[in-house]
Amino acid sequence: MRSVAIKGVKEFEIKEIEEPKSDGYNVIIDVKKAGICGSDIHYWVSGEPIGLVMGHEYCGIVTDPGRRTDLKVGDRVTALPISPCGICHACLSGNPQYCIHTWDKATGLSLTNPGALAPKMAIRPDMVYKVPNNITDEEVAMTEPAAVGLHAVHLADVKVGNRVLVIGGGIIGLVSAMFAKMEGASYVAISETNPKRGEKAVQLGVADEWFNALDPEFSNKVVSRTYEGFDIVIECCGNAPAVTSSLTSVKTGGTVVLVGVSLEPITIPTVLAVMHELKVLGAIAYTKEEFRTCIELMANKRINMLKFLSKEIGLEDVQSAYQELTSGTSDSIKILVDPNK
Ligand SMILES: NC(=O)c1ccc[n+]([C@@H]2O[C@H](COP(=O)([O-])OP(=O)(O)OC[C@H]3O[C@@H](n4cnc5c(N)ncnc54)[C@H](O)[C@@H]3O)[C@@H](O)[C@H]2O)c1
Ligand SMILES: [Zn+2]
Ligand SMILES: [Zn+2]
Repeated sequence: MRSVAIKGVKEFEIKEIEEPKSDGYNVIIDVKKAGICGSDIHYWVSGEPIGLVMGHEYCGIVTDPGRRTDLKVGDRVTALPISPCGICHACLSGNPQYCIHTWDKATGLSLTNPGALAPKMAIRPDMVYKVPNNITDEEVAMTEPAAVGLHAVHLADVKVGNRVLVIGGGIIGLVSAMFAKMEGASYVAISETNPKRGEKAVQLGVADEWFNALDPEFSNKVVSRTYEGFDIVIECCGNAPAVTSSLTSVKTGGTVVLVGVSLEPITIPTVLAVMHELKVLGAIAYTKEEFRTCIELMANKRINMLKFLSKEIGLEDVQSAYQELTSGTSDSIKILVDPNK
């Protein structure tokens, strides 16, 4: 079957790969929609690993339920992409997201388990969730990024009246801002280097205001807006200037949650965290409960993920979609791929 695989630095190729075979264990699905994620962009930029078929956010139809006796052919599902061991301290404490094995065989993020940028895929049975009929395929494919934002906001422990700054207005930042508001934040701001994304965050109603991170007066403007700095900053970019601005924008004793990923080590002024006794937390993925909660929030119309959807494309257009998403000037947020197109 046709797939999109990493060929080199910022380069994909359309590649024939084997269709997944029934093995009585894995759930096999026909992929309907697959999301392009900011994390996928890091792999594409690095060009490694060659041959990786990405796509860890998706909606599909079961063609073989494998070991899942509660599923049947035709059920609509999504899944957590992770591969936790199930027996370590992290797994047994309900936190498979930081099990040391969780990314070894992650679907769409490892060479062993190709993702949803192909018409069919195999999924580890215990990660699969059947989804209700009243959410669209597109929404189902956005469960995963929703859960990332929910987890970050849970770790940030947002309280009613908190002032929250989100650095980066990609889907992860926007969803984090949305949940911070739902948790009762009195003021939510977004900082962006791309004015189109900053403006969109306000238009979509997830942020009260946006700040241009490239403005030489950025730090003064941001801090003066809250008198003494934000109670909470959620960093959703991962680069050095963005992480630095999270440390300069938070108030003394405040909380910074780092969600953004950098594949390379970066230099940041840790002295700010020391001098201001900041609580700096990392946030990775989500718990199974948070993933399930996001499905329920969409089904009960508590959140609208569709407003973040910018366009849908076929496999041939994946390369140009990545170019668009890294241009720094596009207002596209979530691009979904239909691997049958
Ligand atoms: N920790 C996790 O579990 C997890 C899960 C998913 C994604 N991520 C990471 O979160 C980050 C965001 O993901 P995304 O899908 O929203 O990515 P994205 O690339 O769509 O969004 C990042 C945004 O940050 C903006 N930006 C860049 N530098 C900035 C700066 N100095 N100040 C303000 N804004 C700046 C960019 O213009 C862009 O809009 C990525 O690094 C991704 O790898 C982490
Ligand atoms: Zn993702
Ligand atoms: Zn484990």
